[in-house]
Amino acid sequence: MGAYLARAGEIVSRCRGLASHSEQVDGLTRTFLSGPMCRVHAEVGRWMNLAGMSVCVDPVGNIRGSYPGADPNAPRLIVGSHLDTVPNAGAFDGPLGVLLGIGLVGLLAGRRLKLPIEVAGFSEEEGVRFGVPFIGSRALVGDIDADLLTRRDARGVSVAQAIRDFGLDPSRISEASISTGVLGYLEMHIEQGPVLEALSLPLSVVESIVGQSRLEIRFGGQANHAGTTPMHARRDALAGAAEWMIAVEREARAVADLVATIGCIDAKPGAGNVIPGEATLSLDVRHPEDRVRHEVVDRLLGCARPIATRRGLRVSSESRLDQPSVAMDERLTAALARAVEDSGHPVHRMHSGAGHDAMIMARRMPAAMLFLRSPGGISHHPDESVLVEDVAAALAAGARFLEELERGRE
Ligand code: GLV
Ligand code: MN
Ligand code: MN
Repeated sequence: MGAYLARAGEIVSRCRGLASHSEQVDGLTRTFLSGPMCRVHAEVGRWMNLAGMSVCVDPVGNIRGSYPGADPNAPRLIVGSHLDTVPNAGAFDGPLGVLLGIGLVGLLAGRRLKLPIEVAGFSEEEGVRFGVPFIGSRALVGDIDADLLTRRDARGVSVAQAIRDFGLDPSRISEASISTGVLGYLEMHIEQGPVLEALSLPLSVVESIVGQSRLEIRFGGQANHAGTTPMHARRDALAGAAEWMIAVEREARAVADLVATIGCIDAKPGAGNVIPGEATLSLDVRHPEDRVRHEVVDRLLGCARPIATRRGLRVSSESRLDQPSVAMDERLTAALARAVEDSGHPVHRMHSGAGHDAMIMARRMPAAMLFLRSPGGISHHPDESVLVEDVAAALAAGARFLEELERGRE
């Protein structure tokens, strides 16, 4: 356990170090293909090299380290997670899984397994810059279309231009995709919720990842003078949006296992003495059953129409994501569960309410996920943390998982 603990301490301090590469002075925000992401690549690439990997950055900005196997024909295992963050993030959501992958290769200390290992640090998972998540892993499964490349960020920069600005070539994006020769994908990630802490368990295996819908809703009214327009004569887009938000919360509470979130509001023109003429909101809806999620999304959009009509507003919506729920691969998950058990921990199985690159990778290959306890259940927040001993437990389980694959027992 000593070797695992020492390396776990290094992984935790590396994650904390990466958090200094931020677009924000007093906290961590690192979006897709930003300047700080370039500095993260320099550090992560150096650690990959030190662990014995060759490194490249693919055309969508994923950093990928390759550790060859003894058998040149053996299919490889991809271990990965993402390096982008939400605004004002914690240090571990994403980077921990990448650093654990590098840590597992480092523990081999140059020893070749039959199976090659690739460690992938995805450039985009959170969907912050372009409102569309999973761009990094979608490139690996060959799912980047021309439409996505034309999407623009808040400053009007398109995805294609952002790729060029990062020194990469968007016309080569198909080269990021994986054709054949992959055994599976493993993602290690903090749980981001309270379950494992409540059970006093360091680890769990993930059985499935719930589906999610992300939309943009726009209320349109009439901007006007805040001092001269009587209350009865207003068409206040933000007040309409506020009424709808309460309806969203009420509907979501009425459906078991459903979560709905409006995390982002943009009111225009955005001055204290002007009635808002336009309000744009994000909507994020998740449920283990896709049918229920779709029904609820329709119902929530339906609630917006009478509110808008009564207030003399226009309302429209645009889908940003309709990601079905995804089951993890049974055999790979069974191998991971055995690895957890062999490393001395009870096996707990759970669903993930958070989205992960594993749900995209699962379209093309067997995928499995290992969760690490999240102290306080806090995530998407600067207080997000992880215990060094839990990282050591994940390394021990990960090392046994590699042995399982070597023996061909998966
Ligand atoms: C990713 O963090 C998500 O939104 O689930
Ligand atoms: Mn996240
Ligand atoms: Mn994540």
